[in-house]
Amino acid sequence: MPDLFSPFVLKGVTLRNRIVMSPMTMYRSVDGRMGDFHVMLMGSRAAGGFGLVFPEQIAITPDGRTGTHCAGIWDDSQIEGLTRVAAIIRDMGAVPAIQLGHTGRKGSEMKPWDGKLQLPPDHPDGWQVRGPSAITYGGRYTYPVRAMTVEEIHDIHRAYADAARRALAAGFEWLEMHFAHGYLGASFFSPLANQRDDSYGGSLENRLRFHREALDAVRAVWPERLPLTMRLGSDDFHAEGVQFDDAVWALGELKRHGLDLADLSLGLNTDAMTGAPFNEMAFMVERGARVRRELGIPVGVSWNPGIPQEADRAIREEKIDLVLLGRPALANPHWPVWAARELGHNDPFALIPPDWSWWLRTRPGPEGSLGWPPAGKV
Ligand SMILES: Cc1cc2nc3c(=O)[nH]c(=O)nc-3n(C[C@H](O)[C@H](O)[C@H](O)COP(=O)(O)O)c2cc1C
Repeated sequence: MPDLFSPFVLKGVTLRNRIVMSPMTMYRSVDGRMGDFHVMLMGSRAAGGFGLVFPEQIAITPDGRTGTHCAGIWDDSQIEGLTRVAAIIRDMGAVPAIQLGHTGRKGSEMKPWDGKLQLPPDHPDGWQVRGPSAITYGGRYTYPVRAMTVEEIHDIHRAYADAARRALAAGFEWLEMHFAHGYLGASFFSPLANQRDDSYGGSLENRLRFHREALDAVRAVWPERLPLTMRLGSDDFHAEGVQFDDAVWALGELKRHGLDLADLSLGLNTDAMTGAPFNEMAFMVERGARVRRELGIPVGVSWNPGIPQEADRAIREEKIDLVLLGRPALANPHWPVWAARELGHNDPFALIPPDWSWWLRTRPGPEGSLGWPPAGKV
């Protein structure tokens, strides 16, 4: 029976455990490049014992960023910073993963701590946002959306393929396409954002065409031996939006198109959600279990699985294959070591590099002297 600390094999890649640092946008790039900050953040989580480490969503075009301070991969000059990030993750014993995305109608934002408002197209840090249809998101996303032409959709697919080539050159070994959270892929899938009357809109099958073509474009350049996964907006929590049954059907189609793992997340295509269980622990686990059971595809989920016992149970009961941690990975760089102690692992410090774990394992000292509270308090 697997547990949180069992290795996980997907295609030609082996993770040392089932704990993933989920992608998180950090607003620390200049001209889309990654630097020392990203090496520090990702390196520390890899050194903290995570098995798979994602930097933030990496934009495939300049207008695919959340804001001008976000990272990108539309230009060869961005490969160098990404290479440093992938290298430190690998050096610390984890597998480097990359999430490629385009924010669509949710782009052109200021930093959250500056107000988290959308910037107008004529602002020096703003741009004209694009989406499947000219439907403004609403709420804090106030500016008109321009509907993409079919040629622009094909350009996006080419940009995905170019980005995948650069990601491979930078040394990433796991590629996820970000089609959740109200960004471009999520909005093509959702009737709330997509009201096209061509072959990219209307029926569920048409609304998935964007995803299938993007997946095919990336698969053509991304080696078969390396995992290709997708974060899908699987539920809009809105009567007229994406329903979870739609996502189950879609993932079956995408599996036939070469998808290796489903990372189930939320649609977030509207603020007018009803019944979204944001305060429930691990609320995507049962949904993940259904996809895994019905489609036979490996599954990862995030959203509040940060209590070690919950995360471990989801793996032991074979409901999901991977636990993605967002906020807990920010809060505690050593979450895997902490979880191992809480779960009674016989050698928690074996999860981190020998450069310092050798000292901790051979000279543990009296209980509490290493700065860890006694285990078993959760
Ligand atoms: C600061 C921050 C930035 C995020 N940026 C991204 C992102 O770039 N891509 C993405 O797919 N999800 C992003 N997310 C969502 C997380 O990856 C994760 O799915 C979510 O926080 C739920 O997991 P949690 O309950 O463990 O935090 C972000 C979350 C946070 C807190």
